[in-house]
Formats: sequence, C-alpha cells, structure tokens
Amino acid sequence: MDYGRFFVTTPIYYVNDNPHIGHAYSTIAADILARYWQGRGAQTYFLTGADEHGMKIARSALAAGQSPKEFVDKVTDKYKEVWQALNLKYSNFIRTTDPEHEKFVQDFVQKLHDNGDIYQDKYEGLYCVGCEEYKKEDELEPGNICSLHKKPCEKVEENIYFFKLSKYQDKIIEAIQSKKFLIEPEARRNEIFKFIAKEPLRDLAISRSKVEWGIPIPWDKNQTIYVWVDALLNYISGSKGFWPPQLQIIAKDIFRFHAIIWPAMLLATGYELPEKLFIHGYFTINGQKMSKSLGNVVDPVEISKVYGVDALRYFVMAEVPFGADGDFSLDRFDQRYRADLANDLGNLLQRVIVMAKNAKVHWEYEPMTKKYPEFDQAMEELKFSEALNFVWKMISEANVRIDAEKPWELAKVDPEKNEKLLQNLLDTLSDIAGLLEPFMPETSHKMIEQLRTGKQEPLFPRKK
Ligand code: MSP
Repeated sequence: MDYGRFFVTTPIYYVNDNPHIGHAYSTIAADILARYWQGRGAQTYFLTGADEHGMKIARSALAAGQSPKEFVDKVTDKYKEVWQALNLKYSNFIRTTDPEHEKFVQDFVQKLHDNGDIYQDKYEGLYCVGCEEYKKEDELEPGNICSLHKKPCEKVEENIYFFKLSKYQDKIIEAIQSKKFLIEPEARRNEIFKFIAKEPLRDLAISRSKVEWGIPIPWDKNQTIYVWVDALLNYISGSKGFWPPQLQIIAKDIFRFHAIIWPAMLLATGYELPEKLFIHGYFTINGQKMSKSLGNVVDPVEISKVYGVDALRYFVMAEVPFGADGDFSLDRFDQRYRADLANDLGNLLQRVIVMAKNAKVHWEYEPMTKKYPEFDQAMEELKFSEALNFVWKMISEANVRIDAEKPWELAKVDPEKNEKLLQNLLDTLSDIAGLLEPFMPETSHKMIEQLRTGKQEPLFPRKK
C-alpha cells in the first residue's frame, strides 16, 4: 500500500477544559502518521482543532465568569501550547468560531435545506449536555442517567429543524459494506453495521432554539445549528482543498456521529466519503476512568517535563495496541522508560559509540535507504505497537550480538573483523534512528547527531 497524498484528521476537542492524555493520544497518533507518510514521500496534511460552540462550552464559560468567546480563546490557546510542547506538527488548527468555518457551515446547511432534506417539527426528548446528544430512554441508566457522564439528561421540548437522516440509511449501509467507507477495527465495523441495519434510523435534529452560543440557521436566525453538525463540518472547512481524508482518527465515544451522521451529511451533499475511519480505544488511569472529580486526570505536559516528550509519545504507542482499550499507569511508564529507553536503546547507542571511537572505526552517516517491510506493514495497518516491537527486536539483537562477539576482545585479536562488526552496528543504529523518527523525532535527531560526531550524552537520563 502506498499513499501519494495523506490527509489525516483528529476529532476537534471541546475546549471546555485543558487537554489531557486522552486528547493527546489521538493527536500523537495522527502526528506520527503524518510524519511517517511524509517520510515516504506523500504529500501530507494533518488537521486538528477546537470545538468551540454549544451548550457545554457556554455553561463552562458561565461557570468561569467569562463570555464564551473569551473563554474559548483562552482554552484553545492552551491546547495549542500543549500540542506545541508535545511536538505535534499539525498543518492546520481549525476553530469552529473561525468566520470562514461559520460561513461554510451556514452554506452547507442551506444546501441541505435547498435540496429538500430539512423540515421543521416539534422535538420532545432527552438531551445529555456532556455528550451534546439527544438520547433515547432505552440507552440510559435508570433515572435517565447518561452512562458516560453519569449525569441526568435534560428534558427538551422545542420546535426545531430536522435533517432527513433516514433517507440515507441504505446508502450508508452500502458504503460501509462495500468498504468504500472503511471502518476499522473490524469489530467496530460489525458493531455499527448491526446497529444501523437493525432498525430505521431516526431523523436528526439539527438546530437548537434555546442555545445562543452557536452558528445561526441561515433562514431562521432564532435558532442555532446543532453543535455536532457544526463540528463535523470542520473536516471539510479546514481541509484547504485536501478533501477527502485518507484517515479519520477518533475514539469509541464519538463513533456513531462519525459512522452514521457524518457519511449521511456527505452523501446528501455529494461530497466524497473519507477513505477510512479508525476507532481507537479508551485510556483508563490505573484502572479507573479519568475524571476531574476522581482527581486522576493525567496532564501530558507534566509527564513530559519529567521524562521528556519522546518518552511519552513512545509509551502511549508501545503500551496499548491501537484500537484496544488500555490503562495508563505511571509505574508502567517508569518501568518502560528504564527498560526500553534508557537500557535497551540508550545503552546500545552509548556502547557502540564508545567502542567505535576506541577502535577508530571509519564510518560515515547515511540516511536510511534500506526497506523494512515488516515495519512498513505495521505502520500501514496502524499497528503502532507492532512497529515499535519490530524496532526493539533490532535493538535487542544488536545488544545480543555485542555480548556474543565481544568487540573489546575482538579488537585485540582481529581488528579488521571488529571494524566490520562496529560499522555494521553503526548502520543498524542509524536505521533505528530513521525508523523511530515519526515516533520520537527529537531522539532520532539526537541519535543521528551522536552517531555523526561521536559526542556522548545519555539519550534518556536516569531517574532517581
Ligand atoms: N468535540 C467532540 C468531537 C467533535 S469531532 C467533529 C468531542 N470532543 S472531546 O473533547 O470530548 O474529545 C473526544 C475525543 O478525545 C475522543 O474521541 C478521543 O479521540 C479523545 N479522548 C478523550 N478521552 C480519551 C481517553 N480517555 N482515552 C482515549 N482517547 C480519548 O467529542
């Protein structure tokens, strides 16, 4: 598989609070892929951003004693700061309060209206502000509690606009089944397929009459556009002509919006569908859901201050197969830091550089040209932990080779053979640096610098 162009998106996050490790996870994955495909010569475009409208944001602003705009300006700045600190190199950061985005959303909704896909009706039901979603009673816990937010849903009764989602049911089924719109992992594809084929889809409420903090419906300024319709459209409004994406990354919490509502909106307006939607798992913290009230929210910047950004990027990708749920434990992090990074990789580099210096080995750095099909296949299939395993196999083989062939003894009995061995190890290390570049860009550059100059500096300093 090869991409001539690679456009990847992350969800745009609600800026009602600062980013945590879960938000960082999706964004790190997208960053790694953008860097990887760029390395393979693809024209890449990486889009992320901020979801700034809706009731949830408006209430958080109110609680903070600020206007919604003041509030989102601050939190969005914080997001950008964190993404910079984590070395995430997006091509575009879209905000749903950008005037071009707002105009795009209004034009889009107007088009649905002009096509006859919108009608007005009364809505009576339950709404979870945390999810920004209308809920059916049978999907709630007793007392109409949202299972995700553990808060009761609010009763709403309004006269609003609906999008004829039901009209597109068969087309969505066809797109998913034919894999024109590929949903991965397969278990997720089956799950959504069962859901959508089970019963007729309900039409989608696409406006709110009592939410002021949103984009006005173009033909009825008393109503605002439902925040999810507004948010999903960022993927096109922020695409700068790159549409359609090769990959959209999300987690399971927002799966249905992306697997049903989103393709229906695109089918209704003639846009191409994304090539692939990948649903990754959820991180818990030491086995518990991350939440402010439990006080266990993991701040990625705090961790990277202690261990470095690359160690964090490495850990989240190595620890859990992409697609599965996983646990984030600081103990595990610390263990992997010491074992995989400081010991296996860091020591290997140090040993080889010292031995090569002592033996006055002739060697020149050359960027990686060798192909590693096993690594590439893992990356193409978004199996990040397998790709890293492959690199760590190379690392441990190199360490085993050194222990077995003992260059410090070989230097005395067969200097020529020793020089070959060390040249070979230096080549291996520079390829390791090349393979690791998308995951750990700074480490990779440091490795290359040390290999070129012989300068020694621990890649991953010991922690007390
Ligand atoms: N604003 C909507 C998305 C609109 S996209 C058109 C939203 N925002 S969110 O801030 O709640 O972000 C949800 C996303 O953040 C998840 O889909 C996932 O990508 C990431 N994560 C948030 N918490 C997470 C974990 N605990 N674990 C893994 N990823 C998680 O929904």
